[in-house]
Amino acid sequence: MSSNTYRIAALAGDGIGPEVMREALSVLRAVGDQFSLKFDVTEAPVGWAGIDAAGKALPDATLELCRRSDSILFGSVGLPDRDPTIPKEQRPERAALLRIRKEFGLFANLRPVRLPKALAHACPLRPERQGDGIDILVVRELTGGLYFGEPKKTEDLGNGQTRAIDTMVYTTSEIERIARVGFKAAQLRRKKLTSIDKANVLENGVLWREVVTRIAPEFPDVALEHMFVDNGAMQLLLRPTQFDVLLCENLFGDILSDEAAALAGSLGMLPSASLGATNGQQTFGFYEPAGGTAPDIAGKDLANPIAQILSIALMLRYSFGLNVAADAVDAAVGKAIDQGLRTGDIFSTSEAGARRVGTREMGAAIVAAL
Ligand code: IPM
Ligand code: MG
Repeated sequence: MSSNTYRIAALAGDGIGPEVMREALSVLRAVGDQFSLKFDVTEAPVGWAGIDAAGKALPDATLELCRRSDSILFGSVGLPDRDPTIPKEQRPERAALLRIRKEFGLFANLRPVRLPKALAHACPLRPERQGDGIDILVVRELTGGLYFGEPKKTEDLGNGQTRAIDTMVYTTSEIERIARVGFKAAQLRRKKLTSIDKANVLENGVLWREVVTRIAPEFPDVALEHMFVDNGAMQLLLRPTQFDVLLCENLFGDILSDEAAALAGSLGMLPSASLGATNGQQTFGFYEPAGGTAPDIAGKDLANPIAQILSIALMLRYSFGLNVAADAVDAAVGKAIDQGLRTGDIFSTSEAGARRVGTREMGAAIVAAL
């Protein structure tokens, strides 16, 4: 790539995807202006929008665009109620989202969960359980485990019974590489890593714990603890402030990251970065809100664009190393929140000074705060 142009594929997808993407792209333009950075953004259809436009959840042209890009900014895909006759392998969740994760080797998924003080009311926990604020990074393995393990099938047993099989598989090297991502992330934070597993029942859990323990001495400044996933789910509700970085296999990370996001007020606040191997200075990355398409509120100017906007901050930071610009986006979001602007998901009538706004107004306020 040329030295100062960042090529970005913007795939808005379905549901609220297009409206939150629109706000995120205007934030990106504002960042470009302010820091004299050149972002070459190309939009392309994916998900049901891809099926409608080109007959496929991940059209060939969209995949080609992703291959030519330095990173992908993704909205969300999947509309559970649309056309049940389309086989599950061709539906957007598998044919677009999981396919891209696998295709680009995006094994490391980072989901930072932060409850800003100003949003304490949006947290379902009592104030005393929120301590000085919740600040957790979920590091989720993204290309292994039950999502991709073979065999994966549904078979007719011929006796009126059907059997469904998913397989949990991890190899040493898959665990090692995600563990290192977790330890490195902890080094940059509060230096505590909680590794989540189910070693009391699963072979995978035993191997996970062994490998993570073996990697730990490479990071002597990080305190490692192990926790069973059921206990982890409970501890998140009882004492979330004990956690710094949570290291999880694929399915456990999917579940615990939603739980953690609820603690931070709303899934609409949770961005995510999916990274592959680092190649020189740049890391190809895939950036998306962790929430879904929210079809019930799509097209109504109700969606919270913050997760999509914070995904831009993650992209600037992790793919392009533009930390100052990333900080500016984070700060602008903080400012809009401090000004009392609230989309419906984080609004409460009991909060003094809060003003309920739509997707557009929230986006515009964040652009203005830049
Ligand atoms: C997520 C989502 C996806 C997942 C779905 C949409 C396939 O829940 O990114 O957390 O399960 O990984
Ligand atoms: Mg999920």
